[in-house]
Amino acid sequence: MKAIEIIEGITKGADKPEITCDTVKAGDSNREIKRVALSMFATVEVVKKAKKWGADMLIVHEPTYYDHMDVMIDTSVTRAKKKLIEDSGIVIFRYHDCMHSRDIDQITEGELHYLGLTGKLEKTKYSASYIFNSDKEITPLEMAQLMERELGIKHVRIAGSRDHKAKKIAACFGTPGGVFELLCDDSIDLVLTGEACEWKLSEYARDADLLGIKKALIVMGHIPSERDGMRLLTERMKKDYPELNVCYIECGEVYSYTDKE
Ligand SMILES: [Fe+2]
Ligand SMILES: [Fe+2]
Repeated sequence: MKAIEIIEGITKGADKPEITCDTVKAGDSNREIKRVALSMFATVEVVKKAKKWGADMLIVHEPTYYDHMDVMIDTSVTRAKKKLIEDSGIVIFRYHDCMHSRDIDQITEGELHYLGLTGKLEKTKYSASYIFNSDKEITPLEMAQLMERELGIKHVRIAGSRDHKAKKIAACFGTPGGVFELLCDDSIDLVLTGEACEWKLSEYARDADLLGIKKALIVMGHIPSERDGMRLLTERMKKDYPELNVCYIECGEVYSYTDKE
């Protein structure tokens, strides 16, 4: 199976934007593929692990060269990374827009799946931001503990109230638009996101709580807030493409901490 055929297969049914970052970043899209690795980011370590595993193709959700459209600036880092990738011969495809532009956003679906939460998902006017009406009430503290336990996130941060019961939850994984607007909506109890402007969103949530308006913002970190969509895609591809060898490579969180490795 050629890389291009895999790309056409996995992106099928998505509302593909006219201008998209979902392109081949390295390698030959006509290459015959037998082994496909998936990860959140094509970090240097992920590329090396993929090569060691024998991957012909690597599918990632995020940019390789620190720019949304992967326009490469010339630095010692980008030059060395480009050489590593070229020497590996691996075809790298970014699968981003087509994951987010479906009736059910595949990233959001993956996060909720691995959290084990059930409920009803509603679109908002902001792309990749959803309202999740949870079947069960959950406090922000319980949600953060669930994330650390089920998603393996090292440090989940809570701004605002820790102990009110939340049911109407804004699921804004990654850094989509509309996170502040959804936080300002008084019908929403809790907002989940990957990363947030601290002086604006986090301080708003803190003041809301201090003024007796029960709401909270949970900041998961960008990678931990989206990688489970790639984990779920890996499981789907294993079923959909039995002729391929498919594996997930964990890229790990970008920050290290003093208390946990
Ligand atoms: Fe993202
Ligand atoms: Fe994303």
